[in-house]
This record gives sequence, C-alpha cells and structure tokens, in this order.
Amino acid sequence: MSFTVAIDGPAAAGKGTISKAVAAHFGFAHLDTGLLYRAVGAGVLAGGDPVAVAQALDPSDLESDALRSAEVAEAASRVATNAAVRDALTAFQRGFAARKGGAVLDGRDIGTVICPAAQVKLFVTASAACRAERRFKELQAKGSDTTLEDVLADVLARDARDASRSVAPLAAAADAVLIDTSELSIAQAVAQAIAVIENVQKSLQD
Ligand code: C5P
Repeated sequence: MSFTVAIDGPAAAGKGTISKAVAAHFGFAHLDTGLLYRAVGAGVLAGGDPVAVAQALDPSDLESDALRSAEVAEAASRVATNAAVRDALTAFQRGFAARKGGAVLDGRDIGTVICPAAQVKLFVTASAACRAERRFKELQAKGSDTTLEDVLADVLARDARDASRSVAPLAAAADAVLIDTSELSIAQAVAQAIAVIENVQKSLQD
C-alpha cells in the first residue's frame, strides 16, 4: 500500500531538510518537486520552450548542482505560473507518490493539488526574516558575496509570486499540520514531523 507524506511551504522554511530526515527515518522515497520546476527553469534559460522542456523532462535532469542557483530559482518560479507546465509535471509526481513503501514529496501544492488524499500533510513555514537569514548563511558558506538584504528581497519576491499565482498557489491544505520552524532547531522540527507521521500510522493500524 502507498503512504504519502506531503510537505509544503515557502522558500527556505526547512522543508527540504525535514523531508530528507523524515524519508531517512521511515525508509520512504523522497522527491523534491522544486527540482522539477528548477529543471524546467534551467531549460528555459538555455532557450527552450517551457512546456516542451517540462514534457521531455527525465529524472536524470534533476541531479545537476546548477539547479541550486538563485537565477534558476527565479526562472523556476516564473515557469511555475504556467498551467501547462504544471500539468506536464503532475503525472510524474503522482506516480512517485503512489510507489510502494512510502513517499515524501515536498513542494508548494503537494497537499492541495498533487496529492490531496495524502495520509500526512505538513505545512512548514518560518518568518521571512528567519528564512532569509538561513538562506544567506548557506550562500555565504558556498562563497557567494550576496547581501542579506538581497536574499530577503529574493525570498519575499518568490513568496509573493508563489502565493498570488492563479494556478496551484502556495497554500496550506485545510487539513495540513502547521510546523513553524522560526524558533525551532532542525532536530526539534524533524521530531515534530516524525511525531505527526507516527500518530497517523498508529491511527491507521487501529
Ligand atoms: O522549492 P524550490 O525553491 O526549489 O522551488 C523553486 C520554485 O518552484 C518555487 O519558487 C515555486 O515557484 C516552484 N514550485 C512550485 N510547486 C512545487 C515546487 C516548486 O510551484 N510543488
């Protein structure tokens, strides 16, 4: 039987870290769905047509480190407003969610659009200032000379675009459990997520 954990939330809230830790803890497969949009964004930056790139996407396209750049993130959030691009990526995500042995998908619309019947839905968030500071430290550690102000502006611009688009906007599903990581350590945030999942597993066994 499939068991799907949907983890949504804004940029740099800790979704990726929590998703990886949860997948490792329970032995579930993990899909960072942002990489799909980043791969399409990168294809468009290289001159491709967004829908054609999305339709031709191959899982091996998700492995490049170049997808992590701020430029690609920006391009991803632009192509993500295109309904035909989103449609082209839906079947792959649903197929991944339905695999045996459990799956964690993190993104913006997993609990609302891609897997509305997911057994667990988490909405992971944090204040914009916190998220910008974390992203800034990550970028600094990679040698980037960007400023905190620029990173905050980038986070706010992406949030605004993701939350205001007409197709599949960033939103918590009505039945999602909210985890605000602003004041939490990584270990605390992961422990909260694991506790929610264990409760659901227990209730399914009863
Ligand atoms: O999560 P990440 O920052 O890698 O996502 C990049 C962009 O892809 C987001 O800003 C968002 O616009 C888009 N995205 C989306 N739906 C998802 C995952 C990502 O629209 N499920």
